[in-house]
Amino acid sequence: MPIHTSPTYWILETRNTAYSFGLNDSGLLTHCHWGARLPFVADYPAPINPVYWAADGASHFTPEEFPSNNGAKYIDPALKVTFADGVRDAVFEFVDFALVDSFTLEIRLKDSYYPLHLTLHYRVHEEYDLIERWATLENRSAEPIQVERLFSAKWTLPPSGGDDYFLTHMFGHHVDEFHMVREPLTKGVKVIESKRIITSFQHTPWFALDRNASEDAGEVWFGTLAWSGNWKIAAEVADYHSTRVNIGWNDWDFTWRLQPNQSLQTPPALAGYTPSGFGAASRLLHDYVRDTVIPHGKILHKVLYNSWEATTFNVDEASQSALAEIAAKMGVELFVMDDGWFHKRNLDNAGLGDWWPDEIKFPNGLGGLIQKVNALGMDFGLWVEPEMVNPDSDLYRAHPDWVIHFPTRARTEMRNQLILNMARADVQDYIIEALDKLLRENNITFIKWDMNRHVTEPGWQDAPGDPREIWVRYVEGLYHVWGTLRERHLRVIWQSCASGGGRADFGILRFADQVWTSDNTEATSRLNIQEGYSQYLPANTMEAWVTDADAENVPLEFRFHVSMCGSLGVGGNLLEWDQSERQVGAECIRQYKEIRHIVQFGDQYRLRSPQKNPFSAVQYVSKDRSESVLFAFRVHIPDFVSVVKLPPIYPRGLDPEALYVIEGFDRPRSGKAWMETGVDVNLKNMQSKMLRIRKVAP
Ligand code: DGJ
Repeated sequence: MPIHTSPTYWILETRNTAYSFGLNDSGLLTHCHWGARLPFVADYPAPINPVYWAADGASHFTPEEFPSNNGAKYIDPALKVTFADGVRDAVFEFVDFALVDSFTLEIRLKDSYYPLHLTLHYRVHEEYDLIERWATLENRSAEPIQVERLFSAKWTLPPSGGDDYFLTHMFGHHVDEFHMVREPLTKGVKVIESKRIITSFQHTPWFALDRNASEDAGEVWFGTLAWSGNWKIAAEVADYHSTRVNIGWNDWDFTWRLQPNQSLQTPPALAGYTPSGFGAASRLLHDYVRDTVIPHGKILHKVLYNSWEATTFNVDEASQSALAEIAAKMGVELFVMDDGWFHKRNLDNAGLGDWWPDEIKFPNGLGGLIQKVNALGMDFGLWVEPEMVNPDSDLYRAHPDWVIHFPTRARTEMRNQLILNMARADVQDYIIEALDKLLRENNITFIKWDMNRHVTEPGWQDAPGDPREIWVRYVEGLYHVWGTLRERHLRVIWQSCASGGGRADFGILRFADQVWTSDNTEATSRLNIQEGYSQYLPANTMEAWVTDADAENVPLEFRFHVSMCGSLGVGGNLLEWDQSERQVGAECIRQYKEIRHIVQFGDQYRLRSPQKNPFSAVQYVSKDRSESVLFAFRVHIPDFVSVVKLPPIYPRGLDPEALYVIEGFDRPRSGKAWMETGVDVNLKNMQSKMLRIRKVAP
């Protein structure tokens, strides 16, 4: 049984880890252990009973599982409410617990005076060493209660001897996502967040806390949030070295009017512990996403072609057909027409909202092009940006009030567009109907769902509750629309794009199988972006195109190798590729088809970090360890530095006792030998290599 219960103590065990908490002598729900799984139930520590000290109450020193705003404690609470009579103090007391099933535990609490109930939910993902947590508040009083903060979880780290945790997190911006930074977590509260109504590329909803861990070894506590809107991670080192992390909806500009007999449930937060370094933490998340989150986790993604960088808005049947013919000859399996295909869409200043084929570019609809693509042996995919509207569109002229706005303020346009309020049922119905029609009438098997504008002037005049609920209700509306369309069209593969990797999270991946990783397709930048992305998401979700970006300096094979580390796509202007370039492309696509099951479903090992080294390497190993593929890249190292020799690359994840051959090396050696002594890969500047590794015995 992964969950051990007693009337006052609970232990959640995964394959290798454990998480425990219990009621202390004052009745506070107190965190006790998060780390290695211990041999006996009696091994787990009892809840602590701190004492009052100077200006702080005992609860200030108690690692409460879900502290609220009350009492003489000053740590960052997980919940804050105001009752109808103005009382801003919530005192939750333990009521009972329930095992919902063998993996799911509920701890039920109630305010000591008001009929406000709080349930803390815990789910154990045994195989992945992950714990999932979320919270529900229920108002059983006759009056509304204002909820000003409701996080999904507060994670408590083991007490440390000093400020000895390091926090790793990711930041970036458009065309430069997923930069990693690892910094000492010092006293105070370190906040990363999104206030943009999307997940954002400014920060990523993922954290890792370690105590001197490396890629391959050391303790790492890590976590993320399954949510695609505003979020917040607040890591606090309080006095006396207590380290805790709040994660959940952002409470900035947030309030929820919880009506009588209504409840409010947070999105799930996931977290895990490993003693085996950052690489192991990522692999646990990768497996979890592939096995349990994405809709089509078991299918191999097709090699796609996307027209955006080749044709931008200038699409029509002839230009797309010409590209499709070349793509098909090179081995592409899915042809995706990007922006520019719909009503009056010639530039980015018109058309969004009017989701039917442009009458001039496609006088007979999309059918002709789709048939042609299908006849070439490829599937057909399409780009949409359903949450958006251009003021120059039939939709906006008919429904100017559907956009998020304040009536007394400017409707600030970005990329000439405004955001439809997805919290509104009429907006949801419109989008469902428009996209459903497209999918019913056309043989479309892939949709790239884009989102290119972040929110401003977040007004909602006729909101049923507090207008600030928009931050949550918008995302719930998005999930409703996307979920409805997905259920109606189960075979469609959806891709989440927000000007690149702006909406890459565990919430959206319940609908989308893939993410468009970045609008930056220059291969050397992409190495860095891909390394960051791989911290929390697996390679099969990472769409990577080979384009013409910096083609003068980056060889085509290098560009292919970079994209072959994810779900391979091509986005260059094939009409301008000469015969030899098309041959290189065809050969790389052929090779990718041979190894894609290892890349997409295997274990990923980051051997040398591109964010830290101009000579980097990444490896993928099949789950049965019989096959592997290693990619090495040398960007630019001045000659006088590399004149001696590049360092060896040490493969990982092989069976130490088995014999392997590595392409280019003449004799088989044990997995242990390859991993201990490494392989020499001699590359010149801007060269790359793909090495296949095969088990030959036993
Ligand atoms: C932004 C996306 O990230 C690009 O790939 C492309 O689809 C454009 N939008 C189209 O407008």
